[in-house]
Amino acid sequence: MRNPVLIGVAGGSGSGKTTVARELFRQFQNDSVTMIEQDSYYKNQDHLKMEERQLTNYDHPFAFDNDLMLSHLQDLLKGKAIEKPIYDFKEHTRKKETLLIEPKDVIILEGMLILEDERIRGLMDIKVFVDTDADVRIVRRMLRDIEERGRSMESVVNQYLNVVRPMHLQFIEPTKRYADVIIPEGGYNRVALDLLSTKISNILLEKQQLANT
Ligand code: C5P
Repeated sequence: MRNPVLIGVAGGSGSGKTTVARELFRQFQNDSVTMIEQDSYYKNQDHLKMEERQLTNYDHPFAFDNDLMLSHLQDLLKGKAIEKPIYDFKEHTRKKETLLIEPKDVIILEGMLILEDERIRGLMDIKVFVDTDADVRIVRRMLRDIEERGRSMESVVNQYLNVVRPMHLQFIEPTKRYADVIIPEGGYNRVALDLLSTKISNILLEKQQLANT
């Protein structure tokens, strides 16, 4: 295995960051590539009743177990496998099972608040922020949350206005300044994706050359 490259893909909920991350994943499948989602590291809430879990602010940095995510990323970068948690959006907590993730040459870390924690930011070779207008983000989120996460239209609207929007402005938007690259309109921006892929290949080569000297 070569010295791994860590690429962070941040952006608001519904920005298209998952599409960007998946597209990069697809392009590097010949090298070995793995994807880590910050959502997997939402804190365990087994000890709380459902009504209490529904009141949690999931858009605040405190909702995530960044210590665990940091140590998992450090392990992967050292070439060690991890047991990645699996998050259940319907139950608002972690599942009992975990997923074994083997170390790979390219690690793509995707999540709303991955640029917010200085320790995690510091591990990244490339920091990307996917920047999409708020109206597009809310429409995408509405469709996804109703279809995949068992939510009603009313709950999506209330959560968006009371929590998602203010937290986005307070915590996510300011992290744009840490990005090396800001991609407008996410996964449909071919030029940006091609530029990123070229850069990742170059970093991989540089790291390999360094390891060979
Ligand atoms: O995939 P995406 O980045 O959109 O996922 C993050 C969003 O999931 C957050 O904006 C948060 O409001 C939402 N979430 C939720 N219920 C949970 C955990 C997260 O609605 N139990």
